[in-house]
Amino acid sequence: MPAYDNPLVAELETVRTQALGELDTMSDLTDLDAWRIQYLGRRGALTQVMRGIGQLPPQQRPEVGQVSNDVKAILEAAFDNRVDVLKQKRLATTLAQEQLDVTLPGFPVSLGRLHPTTQILREITGIFADMGFQVYDSREVESDLYNFELLNIPPYHPARDMWDTFYINERVVLRTHTSPGQIRAMQAFHPDPIRVILPGMCYRYEQVTSRHEMMFTQVEGLAVGENITMADLKGVLENFARRLFGDNRRMRFRCSHFPFTEPSVEVDMDCFLCNGEGTGCSICKESGWLEILGAGMVHPQVLRNGGYDPAVYSGFAFGMGPERITMLKYGIDDIRLFFSNDLRFLEQFS
Ligand code: PHE
Repeated sequence: MPAYDNPLVAELETVRTQALGELDTMSDLTDLDAWRIQYLGRRGALTQVMRGIGQLPPQQRPEVGQVSNDVKAILEAAFDNRVDVLKQKRLATTLAQEQLDVTLPGFPVSLGRLHPTTQILREITGIFADMGFQVYDSREVESDLYNFELLNIPPYHPARDMWDTFYINERVVLRTHTSPGQIRAMQAFHPDPIRVILPGMCYRYEQVTSRHEMMFTQVEGLAVGENITMADLKGVLENFARRLFGDNRRMRFRCSHFPFTEPSVEVDMDCFLCNGEGTGCSICKESGWLEILGAGMVHPQVLRNGGYDPAVYSGFAFGMGPERITMLKYGIDDIRLFFSNDLRFLEQFS
């Protein structure tokens, strides 16, 4: 006599033992799926056993239903459990394989770089340092007095139209040029001789286009002393242009007007791309010349405003835009690139 007098219950027990035995040996999640279909699926072993229920005497049938439910629950729980075990195992082996290998080379650290304007400013200040000019820092928020009046530009004078100005109020402005630094340097150093450059940010109430920004840098230069002449100005600027753009550069001084210099000039350099030839050149627009700065001899009234007696002292001053110079040097056609923080642009200047 078998242990069970109900043959289907005996069969269910066999299925149970066999299924659990197989499950224990399984190590692959896809095998597990096949197992589930084989035992618990719609045509699986459990269902097959239940098919025979009609052949049993009625009093034995409920027991089969009961046991079949129990076995099903046991197999399902064992299946879930096995899936968990295998998943844990797989995780553990991947983690073990991913262990930190301290002998591997590290990731390269990406190095920052200087903004093109900073680079050109350093180049410019370096060149002038070699000629004995020191850097003098002056404020960006200026008074109307220093930005205009002490530079010989009275209120309501038409010369003010040269600078579109951000007024903070009637007396305070964002400096429209670095020239107010001339007065501040003179007032700080008089009566000693001066050789300074003043690099820094300027602001103008301008419509922003590819050629105009509402903020930009300028480098002002100022030399004051006895017997300083226009020849000194020319020599300094020529030396500067040759250091920055090459030994063969020639300069052209054109008459101009600034209220704080007399005489005033606009200074052009022969085009470094076409060597002044002009024909077909995109940088100088076929003119052969590039305008690089404004300059002149410090106006007697401006010297006086700075504390120097124009009968004894004279001086020269110049002002240039480093962004413009960088644009010329590298053929950049849009000044907005300097402030738009586009890495594709910035990364080209290493
Ligand atoms: N400040 C003038 C400008 O911004 C440039 C300049 C500086 C001209 C010094 C002469 C002397 O246009």
